[in-house]
Amino acid sequence: MSEQNYYHYIGTSHLRSDAKEKTTGETKFLTDIPDKGMLHAAPVYSSIPFGETISIDVSVAESVQGYVDFISAKDIPGENQIGVIFQDQPLFADKIVRYVGDSIGLVVAETSEAAYYAARLIKIKYEEHTPLLSIDESRDAENNFIHETNLACKHRVRKGNIEIGFNTADKIVEASFKTPFQEHYYLEPQGCIVTPGNNSNVEIVGTLQCPFYIQKSVAKVLGVNLKNVSVEQAPTGGGFGGKEDIPSELAARVAVAAVKLGRTIKMVYRRKEDVQLTSKRHPFQMHYKVGVKNDGTLVAADILLEENAGAYATLSSVVSYRASAQAMGPYIIPNIHVDSNSYYTNLPPTGAFRGFGSPQAAFGHERMMDVIAAELNMDPVEIRLKNILKPGDATMTDQSLPISVGAEETIRKAVKSSNWNHKNIEDGRYLHGMGISTIHYGNCLGAAGWHMDGSAARIQIQRDGKITVAFGLVEMGQGALTVVKQMTAEALGISPERITVLPTSTEYVPDSGPAVASRNVVMTGNAIRDAAKKLLPILKDAVAELMECKPNDVELTNDRVFCRANNSELTFEELTNYLYITNRKTEELGWWHVRELEYNKDTGIGEAYFTYSYATHIAKVRVDKLTGLVHTDKIWAAHDIGKAINPAGLEGQIEGGTAQGVGWVTTENFITDRGIVQTENLSTYLLPTATDVPDVESIIVEDPEPEGPWGAKGIGEPAVIPTGAAIANAVSNALGVQMNEIPLTPEKVLNIIMKNK
Ligand code: MOS
Repeated sequence: MSEQNYYHYIGTSHLRSDAKEKTTGETKFLTDIPDKGMLHAAPVYSSIPFGETISIDVSVAESVQGYVDFISAKDIPGENQIGVIFQDQPLFADKIVRYVGDSIGLVVAETSEAAYYAARLIKIKYEEHTPLLSIDESRDAENNFIHETNLACKHRVRKGNIEIGFNTADKIVEASFKTPFQEHYYLEPQGCIVTPGNNSNVEIVGTLQCPFYIQKSVAKVLGVNLKNVSVEQAPTGGGFGGKEDIPSELAARVAVAAVKLGRTIKMVYRRKEDVQLTSKRHPFQMHYKVGVKNDGTLVAADILLEENAGAYATLSSVVSYRASAQAMGPYIIPNIHVDSNSYYTNLPPTGAFRGFGSPQAAFGHERMMDVIAAELNMDPVEIRLKNILKPGDATMTDQSLPISVGAEETIRKAVKSSNWNHKNIEDGRYLHGMGISTIHYGNCLGAAGWHMDGSAARIQIQRDGKITVAFGLVEMGQGALTVVKQMTAEALGISPERITVLPTSTEYVPDSGPAVASRNVVMTGNAIRDAAKKLLPILKDAVAELMECKPNDVELTNDRVFCRANNSELTFEELTNYLYITNRKTEELGWWHVRELEYNKDTGIGEAYFTYSYATHIAKVRVDKLTGLVHTDKIWAAHDIGKAINPAGLEGQIEGGTAQGVGWVTTENFITDRGIVQTENLSTYLLPTATDVPDVESIIVEDPEPEGPWGAKGIGEPAVIPTGAAIANAVSNALGVQMNEIPLTPEKVLNIIMKNK
C-alpha cells in the first residue's frame, strides 16, 4: 500500500470552501462594508516624473462641498518613511517627487467623489528635473541621481573560474533579452479602512497580503508600538504580489489622517490611480554568455541581469536576489558569474509580482538554452536533459540537493504528453511551433529573508466538537482557506466539516512574515502539524482516561475516536466535551521556521533556498502570417510540487499562472510616456481573455520534500514562471527567428514575418 492511502483529507480534491460565497456575491469585500459615518480619502500625487514641489495651493479644493482636510508630510507624528526593505521612500513627499504618482498628500472629504474631485483641484507648482526613464539612462547618468545613487541594489554569484571554463568550451554563445513591465491587474483595487481608537490604538481592515508589514509601517509613521496597531484582512480580490508592499502605504497614509481627525476613514483607489501609483513587475534586460561542449554540456556562464526598479526600491532586492540565484535555471554548471543590478528610474516603483523576478530570469535562461541548442543543432529537449539537475547534484549556487528534485521527471512527462516536436509546420495561413521551458523555484524567502521565514497556526478545539484555526498568511484567491482546512483535518484526524478558518489578523497569531513566495502550504502546513503534535497527546490522554485504556491504544483518524485495546469508539463531541469537563488545554499555537541556511552573500554561493519546486511547460503555438497574432493553442504544464494537497486547487493555480504568463508574453503591453501610464485600463492594457487562454494540461509530479508538510512544496508562483519562455521558444521555432524581446505583439511578429519573406 502506498503511503498516500493513509491520507484521508489531503491528496484528494476538495471544493474550495470560499467558492459558494464568492460565486453568489455573498462575500463581503472591503467596499461591501457599510461606510456610514466614515470619511473618505483620495490620493494627491505628483504629475511630473522628477522634480521638487515649490508650492501647494489647496484654496480651490477647500471650496468643494464635503471637503474636510488636506493631509501631508507635516501631519505625520512619527517617521516619514515607508520603505519596505530600504528606507528610501517617504510616506508623503517632502519636496522631492520621483515618479508620476509619487505621494504628496491625501484629501479627506465626506464622500469619495468629493475627495477625488478636490484632490484634482489642488494646485502644485514644481521645479522639474530631467527624468531618467530607462535602465540605460539611469545606469549611465553621471550627475543626475534619483537617490544617493541610481543603483538600488545588486547581487552576485561567483562560482568556479569562468575564464578557465570558457577556455574548455567548444562554442561560446551570446544573446541579449528584454522583458517588459507587467501590471498585476487584480480585479479588486487597493483599499483600506482605518479606525482610530483610545490610547493611540488604530484598527485597520484592508485588501492585503501582508498584515504584519502593515502593522510595522503604521506603527512607525504614527510613532506608536506594534501592539497599538491591529490589522485584519478583508476578503481579498487578488494580489499576485501587488498587495505585498502597497497596502502598507495606503494604510499608513490613511492612519495619519484618521488619527489627526479622530474619524474612521476609508480609501479605495480608482483603477486609474491603482495603475499609475502602484508597483509592477520589473522590466529586465539581460545578457547571457554561455560556453558549451559540442555535446551540449554547459561549462561556463557569464550573466548580466539589469532590472528597472522604478522610483523606489520596495521589493527590488528580493527580485534581484532571486533572479541572481536562479539565473541559469535548474542545470548543472561548474563555472558561473552572475551580476544582478537593479536601477532606480523615474517610473512607477516595481515590486513583487508572482515569481519575484523568476519569470524574467527564466525567460533569460530558457531562451538561452534554445539559442544554444540552435547553434549546436540539438533538440531543445536533449540539451535540457543533458544538463538537468538530478538528486545528488549541486545547483548553480553550489547547493547540494540530495532529494526531491523532480526536474527531469517534469521534462519527460511533458515531452511524452505533448508528442514533442520542435520542427515548425507551415499550414496555409499559420506557422505552428512548439517550445519548452524548464525552471526551478526556491521555496519561501531564502537565505536573504531567512530572519522572517517563520509562520504560525493556532488551533482551538471547541466544546461542541468544532475547531477554529487561525493562520498568519492569507487567502487572496489562491485557495489557502481550503488547504488550511484539509491540512488541519489530516493532522488531527478529524473531518474538515468541523473546521472554521478565521480571517487573518495580527490579533490571533504572532508575526508570520509575508504571504508571498509560494509560502502558504509549506509554512502554514508545518505550523499546523506542530500545533496538532501538541494537541494530540492531550486528546489521547483524555480518551484513555474516559475509555480506560492506554493513550497508545487510542486512534484519532477519519473522524473516529477509537480505542484499539477494548475495540470501542467515542464520538468526537464526547471527547471534546470531556476536555472541558476535565479542564484540559484546548488550544495550541503551532510554529515552523525554515532551517538555517548556509549561504555566502558576497559570493552568492550556498543554500539560496531550503528546497525547490520544478516545472516544465511545453507550449504549442500558431502564428497567423496575415495578422501577426500569436495563438497559444495548448500548454502542457508538468509541476513537481512534492505532494498535491488539493489537486483541483493545484490545477487551478497552474491554469491561472499560465494565463498570467500568456498575458505577459503576448497580449499585455504596458506603455508609459514621460512616466505617465498610457495603458490605464482594460481597453488599452489587454489581459488575456477566454479566447486567448489555451487549453492547459496539468501534469502533477510528486517528488516529496521531507521538510515540507506531507512532502509538499509551493505552487503559487511556479505556475507562471516557465510560461513566457515556453511560448517565446515556440514562436521562435515557428518563425525560425530568435524572439528575444517580449511582449510578442502582432506588430512585432508581423514585422518579422514581412522581413523574412
Ligand atoms: Mo509574491 S511576488 O510572492 O508577493
